[in-house]
Amino acid sequence: MHYIANSARYQNMEYRRCGRSGLKLPAVSLGLWHNFGNVDAPDNYRNILWTAFNNGITHFDLANNYGPPPGSAEENFGRLLREDLASYRDEMIISTKAGYTMWKGPYGDWGSKKYLVSSLDQSLKRMGLDYVDIFYHHRPDPDTPLEETMMALDLIVRQGKALYAGLSNYKPAEASRAIKILKELGTPCLIHQPKYSMFERWVEEGLLDVLDEEGIGCIPFSPLAQGMLTDKYLKGIPEDSRAAREHGFLKKDQITPEKLQQISQLNQLAGQRGQKLAHMALSWILKDKRITSVLVGASRPEQLEDSLKCLANTHFDDDEIIAINRILGNDL
Ligand SMILES: NC(=O)c1ccc[n+]([C@@H]2O[C@H](COP(=O)([O-])OP(=O)(O)OC[C@H]3O[C@@H](n4cnc5c(N)ncnc54)[C@H](OP(=O)(O)O)[C@@H]3O)[C@@H](O)[C@H]2O)c1
Repeated sequence: MHYIANSARYQNMEYRRCGRSGLKLPAVSLGLWHNFGNVDAPDNYRNILWTAFNNGITHFDLANNYGPPPGSAEENFGRLLREDLASYRDEMIISTKAGYTMWKGPYGDWGSKKYLVSSLDQSLKRMGLDYVDIFYHHRPDPDTPLEETMMALDLIVRQGKALYAGLSNYKPAEASRAIKILKELGTPCLIHQPKYSMFERWVEEGLLDVLDEEGIGCIPFSPLAQGMLTDKYLKGIPEDSRAAREHGFLKKDQITPEKLQQISQLNQLAGQRGQKLAHMALSWILKDKRITSVLVGASRPEQLEDSLKCLANTHFDDDEIIAINRILGNDL
C-alpha cells in the first residue's frame, strides 16, 4: 500500500524549541532502539513509523548499533524511508549516534575521530541518506581527549554530514566542558540526550541547569523506564513484553517487589488525574519547560497512540508533585 501522510498530522502535536536554537522538535519523539531490528516484524515496525508520522512525530532517533543485529535498525528505517516517506524527508529530523561498540578492532568504539567519522559514513550508507539532522556522541570516552571527540563532531557538521551536533550520557561537568569546546569551534551543541524518568532522576542534580544556562535542548531517553512505568507489569510479566523478550534490554530481575509497589501507587495516582501511568510518566517529564521532547519507544502502533495522550495534561499541582516524590522516596 502506498503511504500518504495524514493531512491533519500537525494539528495535535506540540513543537518545542530546542534550547535557544532555531530548531523545534515534537514534544514526543520516536526511538528505534528496540522493535526495528531484523528480529522484528517488518509490517509492525512499518505501522509504528506511519503512526508516528501521521500524528506529528517528526523526529526519529537511531544509533549505529540499534538492531539486533547492530546496524539493522538503520537499514530497516532507510528502507521504509525510501519506500514510504522519501517525499517527506524535509519534514523529518533524523538522528543517529556513535559511541558504543560497533565493529571489531580499535576503531569501532568510544570517541576517536577515526571512529566517529567512519561510523557516520556507515550510518548514512545504511539509511541511504546524504546527511542526518543530528549526530550525537553516544557516551563520554574517558581515554580520548574531549577536544578530539568534539573536533570530530565539528568536522562532521562542517562537511554537511550532520546539521547539528549532540551529546548523550554526559554528566554535568563533562557536558559543560564539551559544550565549551564546541562553542569555541563554532559548532554549538544543539541537544543532550540523557536517561531520565521517574525512576532515574540524576539530571535534576545539575545537568538540566547547565543545559538551561547554555541554551541547549534536552531529550530524555527511556522515559517509561523501558515500560516499567506503565501498568503492564502489575500482574506479572506479559509474554510479549520487553522484559520477556530474548533481545530486550530490560531484564526480569529489574522488576523488583519494591519497584512494583511504587508502580502500583503511581498507577493509582495517575488514575486520580484521569491518566494511565504511561501518560503520567511522560507528562511528568514534559511539565518542565527545559525538556524539549520525550524520546519513547513502542512495540506496537496502538502503544504509540496511547503514549501520545500524555500531551493532554502536562500540568501537576503541588500536591501531586509531593505525592509522587513521596512514592519515589525523593521527599527527604
Ligand atoms: N542515548 C542512549 O544511550 C539511549 C539509550 C537507550 C535508549 N535511547 C533512545 O531512547 C529511545 C526510547 O527508549 P526506550 O524504548 O527504552 O523508551 P521507553 O519509552 O521508556 O520504553 C519503551 C517501551 O515501553 C513499552 N511501552 C511504550 N509505550 C507504552 C504504553 N503506552 N503502554 C504500555 N507500554 C508501553 C514498550 O515495551 P514492550 O515491548 O514491553 O511493549 C516500549 O517498547 C530508544 O529507542 C532510543 O532511541 C537512547
